[in-house]
Order: sequence, then C-alpha cells, then structure tokens
Amino acid sequence: MAVRFGLVGCGIMGADHARILRSDIAGAELVAVHDKDRGRAERVAADGCKIHADPGQLIADPAVDAVIIASPDATHAPLTRAAIALGKPVLCEKPMATSLDEARGIVDAEVAGGRQLVQVGFMRRFDPGYRAMRAAVTAGTLGNPLFLHCIHRNAVGPDYVTSDLVLANSCVHEIDISRFVLGEDHARVRVVRARPSRKAPNRQPLMMILETASGVVVSVEAFLDAQYGYDVQGELVCEEGTLSLDPHPPTRRRLTGLDGHAVEGDWVGRFAEAYRCQLRDFVVALNGGRFQGSSAWDGYVASLTAEAALKALKSGDTVPVTPGDRPAFYDAAG
Ligand SMILES: NC(=O)c1ccc[n+]([C@@H]2O[C@H](COP(=O)([O-])OP(=O)(O)OC[C@H]3O[C@@H](n4cnc5c(N)ncnc54)[C@H](O)[C@@H]3O)[C@@H](O)[C@H]2O)c1
Repeated sequence: MAVRFGLVGCGIMGADHARILRSDIAGAELVAVHDKDRGRAERVAADGCKIHADPGQLIADPAVDAVIIASPDATHAPLTRAAIALGKPVLCEKPMATSLDEARGIVDAEVAGGRQLVQVGFMRRFDPGYRAMRAAVTAGTLGNPLFLHCIHRNAVGPDYVTSDLVLANSCVHEIDISRFVLGEDHARVRVVRARPSRKAPNRQPLMMILETASGVVVSVEAFLDAQYGYDVQGELVCEEGTLSLDPHPPTRRRLTGLDGHAVEGDWVGRFAEAYRCQLRDFVVALNGGRFQGSSAWDGYVASLTAEAALKALKSGDTVPVTPGDRPAFYDAAG
C-alpha cells in the first residue's frame, strides 16, 4: 500500500518535496499539507489533497502515515516530537533543531519509543559524488584519507542569515557529509572569518576547520554571497590519490570566448538527484527497509558540532567536539 504523506511547509523545499513525491516516487502519495500561509498550501495541494489549518492536526490525521517537515528551522523540533509521540515516521529538513536540548530531546524520545522514526534531510548523503567518496574510504582504494576540502557558496544569501547562522544553517551540511564520507566524528573545530564582501557588508565569509579523532582535516569555505551562483565543491585527498565532485551539470559548454560548465542557481537543481533518492529510500525504509539517511543521532551531532563551531567563531579558539557515545539503538541505522 502507498505511504500517505503529510507535508508541513510549502515554500521552496516543501514544494520540491511535493513535486518529487508526485512525479518520481513509486508507492507514495501526498494526502495533506499545511503552511502558515494558506495561499502557499493551496498552490502545493492538488485535487484530493487535504489542507490542514494546523500542523498538529495534520500530524494526527489518521490518513497521514508519515510526515515531511519543511517549515522554518524553529518549528522542526516541536513538530518532530509531535510525530514521534504519535509513532509516525518523519523526514525533517535540516537542521533537526535550533538548540542542543531540543536535539537531544528528539534522540531521547525516539530511543524511549523503541523504533526509528526520524530521518534528517541531509540529502547530500544520497548524492552520487559523496557516495563514491564514502565507498573509496570504506574500500581503502586511495589509501587513508588526509584532507576533505569543501566549498559551499550561494549566489546571494537571505538577509536574516548572520555570520553566526551560517554555521547552524549552511555549514551543518558539511558537518554531516564529512562525518558520512570519513566514517568518524570530529574531535575539534576552529573558525576563521574573511573580511566582508562589499556585496554583503553585514556578513563575513567563514572558513571552518574540523579535525577528526584520527587526524583527518576538513576545510569548509562558507560564502553566501558569491554572486555567480550556487557552487558546492569537494575534494577528498588520500595517501595515494584524490577524488573530487564533478561540476554540476556535468556537461561542458563552448561558446565564443567561453569553455566551461554552467553554474546552478540554487540547491534544488544542484542536488536534484540527491533529493529524489532521499525520498525514494525513505519510502523503502518505511516499507520494511533500512533507513539510509541521517538519523536523529546524526542530527544531534550536527547541532552539537555547529554549536562548538559557533563558540570557536566567537572566541577565536579551537573548541573540542564531544558528542559522547552513540546509543546502541542507532547501531542498526549505521
Ligand atoms: N536540505 C536542504 O538542502 C535545504 C535547503 C534549503 C532549505 N532547507 C531547510 O528547509 C526548511 C524550509 O526552507 P525553505 O527554503 O523551503 O524556506 P521557505 O521560506 O521557502 O519556506 C518555508 C515555508 O514555511 C512556511 N511557514 C512559516 N512558518 C511556519 C509555521 N510556523 N508552520 C508552518 N509553516 C510555516 C512559510 O509560509 C513558507 O511557505 C528550512 O528549515 C531550511 O533550513 C533545507
């Protein structure tokens, strides 16, 4: 039987999840939506799709089997907790929570319930390039990893995203994907600021440097105002070779005076395949498969690491990252 989804938040991400559910995922159906702005909910709802005036009602709706949360960050933790309380699986956009207490509360509630229900929308784990890096590390084909260089540039970031928020909202992607690729936690972090671009005087581009317990160094350039487009790059440097993400789209253009690749405008195009595979595998997991994406524990560790990075940004110091032991509950989740 098809998994019947309810969607909270019908903005850029919510509308894209709805589109993917309807066009690309076998065995899934979008049956209910909610957005604080009813007009947005109406635009995403199609014939037969219920519009709820309240997110709690949507989660409790007996016709909803699983929930996607794509509303603003501050709503993620309370709505995820509401879904756990009713035993409903939830794909929650990143970050899972806006405070460490909230994030830990989600882990504790899920463990107490005895069943994995939460997947966090760190969709890069489903991107073919990062998967190839993970496979190379696991197989040891390039020798031991030494560096992972990450670049995360947006064309023009939203005004409300301060330098501090860049860590919790953008860099969490690199925090999570570097844990995934390297298969280990970070041990410490420091953050250096560049001077502000004259195009965005209120925000500083950041360089975050993470070190893992085994001594791999992860560099992350986070620059929200690069103007020319959305550009995510990655290079894994190992003892015997390197592996880099291909440009996206991979086709190369030659025009008068130009030989190169087009640049995506935003993440929806750049990670289209990852978003699709994320939802596809989530549905497979709900039908008795194994969760492949980031667990609530991964969401918690990402928040904890982002918080350590914020301390490092403010103090200029190197700050330890100490997630503690992962509950055995998550062993099956990998
Ligand atoms: N995984 C990714 O790559 C990725 C990329 C971008 C954004 N995100 C995350 O997805 C979430 C949504 O981002 P977006 O870019 O779609 O933002 P958006 O502003 O386009 O959409 C957010 C929607 O939520 C609605 N909303 C606001 N308050 C609400 C509330 N209290 N309850 C219900 N709906 C409410 C808004 O009306 C809007 O339609 C954010 O948490 C963001 O961090 C993830």
